[in-house]
Amino acid sequence: MHLWLDTAKIEEIREIASWGVLEGVTTNPSLMARAGTADRESVTRMIDEIVGGPVSAEVISTDAPGMVEEARKILTWSPHVVVKIPTTAEGLKAMKEISSWPNGRVNATLVFSPNQALLAAKAGATYVSIFIGRIDDVGQDGMEVVRVTAEIFDLHEIPAQIVAASIRHPRHVVESALAGAHIATIPYAVMKKMIGHPLTDVGVRRFLEDWKKVAGS
Ligand code: E4P
Repeated sequence: MHLWLDTAKIEEIREIASWGVLEGVTTNPSLMARAGTADRESVTRMIDEIVGGPVSAEVISTDAPGMVEEARKILTWSPHVVVKIPTTAEGLKAMKEISSWPNGRVNATLVFSPNQALLAAKAGATYVSIFIGRIDDVGQDGMEVVRVTAEIFDLHEIPAQIVAASIRHPRHVVESALAGAHIATIPYAVMKKMIGHPLTDVGVRRFLEDWKKVAGS
């Protein structure tokens, strides 16, 4: 499974990229706001220079012509940029048009059901982002949407890749990997929790203490 970071904060991306495990990044208007900037182009360029993998930049328009017009500009920003399009009826129209272009990679976002994922894939989306955390937040089962979508895509040999999004904790990453997601886009805080374990810290300390007993330092 590919691991992406879900942030627009350059310092977070630099840190996780230094681990050697980062394969892409997703941004959205809220993440841009949290990073304190509306300059999607500069942020996208900087991210691509750091990561060198798919970086999703979301449109602001809500109508198909507006989305398509924005996508024309977004796709010039960097070699690995992906256009993020909300999975609405207008979004499907835009996805169909954009995905027909030579470099028209689309990330269908705000997907909350297998039907939306299926429609986005049929419209040519390269990625479909299923918002696990937000589905759970309303008392439904986000992981079940991933599982069912993965089963449908496998059964019908649909090439679109499932992105596990709206991730709230490390278990979501493990469960989405088991459920068949191709990618998990992970918040910085969750990524940090994934590598941390108290027994590892205790183990390192104990190794060093025992080593000092024989090596002297
Ligand atoms: C991914 O690209 C989504 O925009 C993001 O994971 C949404 O996360 P949230 O539900 O915590 O806002």
